[in-house]
Amino acid sequence: MYFGVDYYPEHWPKERWETDAKMMKEANMNVVRLAEFAWSKLEPKKGEYDFSWLDEAIETLTRYDIKVVLGTPTATPPKWLMDLNPEIYPVDLYGLQKGFGTRRHYCSVNSTYRELSRVITRKMAEHYKDNENIIGWQTDNEFDASCFCDHCKKGFQDWVRNKYGTIQALNEEWGTVFWSQTYNDFDEVVIPRYSSSDGFTQSGEGSNLNRPPFNHNPGLLLDYYRFKSDAVVVFQKIQIEEIRKLSTLPITHNFMGHFSELDYFDLGKDLDFISWDCYPNNMWGKSNYTQVSMAHDLMRGIKNKNFWMMEQQSGPCGWQAMGDTPEPGQIRLWTYQALAHGAEAMIYFRWRPALFGTEQYWHGILDHDGQGRRRYHEVAKIGEELKSLEDLFVDTKNINEVAIIKSYDNFWSHRIQPHNSKFDYNELLNEYYTALNKNNITADVTSVDVDFTKYKLVLMPAFNLMTEDIKTKCEDYVKRGGNLLITFRSGTRNWNNSMSTITNPGYFKELAGIELEEYDSINFGRSVEVSGEAFKGLAKTWCDVIKSNGAQVLATYNSHYYRGKPAVTVNQYGKGQVYYVGCDLDDAALSDFIKSITEDMLITTLQSNSEGIEIVRKEKEGKIFTLLMNHNNYSIKINIEGSFINILTGEAVKNQMYMEAYGVAILKE
Ligand code: GAL
Ligand code: ZN
Repeated sequence: MYFGVDYYPEHWPKERWETDAKMMKEANMNVVRLAEFAWSKLEPKKGEYDFSWLDEAIETLTRYDIKVVLGTPTATPPKWLMDLNPEIYPVDLYGLQKGFGTRRHYCSVNSTYRELSRVITRKMAEHYKDNENIIGWQTDNEFDASCFCDHCKKGFQDWVRNKYGTIQALNEEWGTVFWSQTYNDFDEVVIPRYSSSDGFTQSGEGSNLNRPPFNHNPGLLLDYYRFKSDAVVVFQKIQIEEIRKLSTLPITHNFMGHFSELDYFDLGKDLDFISWDCYPNNMWGKSNYTQVSMAHDLMRGIKNKNFWMMEQQSGPCGWQAMGDTPEPGQIRLWTYQALAHGAEAMIYFRWRPALFGTEQYWHGILDHDGQGRRRYHEVAKIGEELKSLEDLFVDTKNINEVAIIKSYDNFWSHRIQPHNSKFDYNELLNEYYTALNKNNITADVTSVDVDFTKYKLVLMPAFNLMTEDIKTKCEDYVKRGGNLLITFRSGTRNWNNSMSTITNPGYFKELAGIELEEYDSINFGRSVEVSGEAFKGLAKTWCDVIKSNGAQVLATYNSHYYRGKPAVTVNQYGKGQVYYVGCDLDDAALSDFIKSITEDMLITTLQSNSEGIEIVRKEKEGKIFTLLMNHNNYSIKINIEGSFINILTGEAVKNQMYMEAYGVAILKE
């Protein structure tokens, strides 16, 4: 198994490299990622390349048996390059060009930059093609897609021309007759820059400089998100092409978990494997453990394949300020959490915090003085423990009978028009994930293209944009005995973001065996009571008022003028069932509801009765093992039915077990 760290030899005097390599080796490390921001060191002036320092760094690491993943440095084009080609700078939604001084200062649509990115990638690939210490490539660093420049405008016009063929078709799909927006030619099509009715969002904040404003035509906005995402896929493809001409090594990119500005399913297609960057606790926020686990599951779901951690938090993190310092045991817990959900290599960010630059505070394993203290010793110990497990996590499968479907198109559509200003698509998915987790049920988080028939239950919360093909896929799955769960704001729109004329819930009307009489967007602190046999709770965002056309009613509203009307239903369709949840539910109610429906489906799980204990089952070569993780900062005695051996300690476990704060156990039957 690969175990290592992100390393920036270019930030340190050469004399230190040997010490670093030695300390890495002593910490059981065998891989580093290098060079992903080092363009100005690799090509200090136009056409003058210098790989000597990187060669030497790699040589030093090699002497300590440390392998290398090389990053292409295109997230930070150097100053000389920007001075020669200032049109590469991205532009914000007010049309203001951004300047030099941070990173990601390029527009991925810009053809000059695409070419320059191709050249530096080729140069690196040529130079390193025969270096046996390099084991893989990373494209760029954490792709994003924000830009509103003239290249984007031209690119978008070409993209819509290609998509719609005729301007009449575009006018039709977008409904440009509204507010006299009809275009006579593709050259007239605008991009969603700041326009006269923009300037505030649904929740009253100012427009975000980086993201499309909200008040443009919803069809245009959605297509702009798609175009920007596609442009990054093309940008990345150019680098992949160059590397593949010269090398057979696997290529990855470091993704960002729940980040949803790009369609990660598309971006992952051209890559050999996915890797990602996980910071559960930094200056911008602290994630619940279910958010982290769900992000891991989504990263696995991009290719339905195991992934790597390319940057795993290993110290206090922040730019101007810092998040909490990882407590003793937390780095180990995060490590096993990643491995549990499908990581098969662990690379921590970063070796030693920089003495300078924006990320002076972004700590890693060492401290500024180059000393290894508590965090270093913890990491070294994790490395030792993982060695003793002998690749247990490599080529290992997660066993899941439930899938949550994520759609970036739907994310964007809900971002553009969230129906209720409190509604957040990703959050709704996380609420369902958390409810499953509370019932010790793990899930795949993946795209609608996945084979549904592998699963006992498929959840498609707020899957609002729909196509006939997806509808047919859902019907076939349910007919043959599958269970499908859909929610409010499902199926009411066509794929290009216009409203469907089918009575709500639109594309799901027949499947769900219901129709909506009306709906109520819940605002300003109001809430509506909902109750059924299995649960009782409050809706605070949305209530669909349902009329059953044959579906069985599982819960009704208990307050407001639609009291007594159905809120949650289930419909028998062929051999399967379709659950329709017409409102949002608080955590306890949702968990009780999920419990009531999954019990009927005989979903296999280990049971523990304790808050904050996560259970993940995995399979390796036909043998099953289970990870238990205590996400609480206190030790706890848990019940767990059955007899096991904890392979981390060799201890026998029968029905009960003691877990340390942030403790981990791996149980074999
Ligand atoms: C990641 C990024 C790293 C580093 C880190 C800390 O998102 O890939 O290069 O910047 O954050 O900010
Ligand atoms: Zn641009």
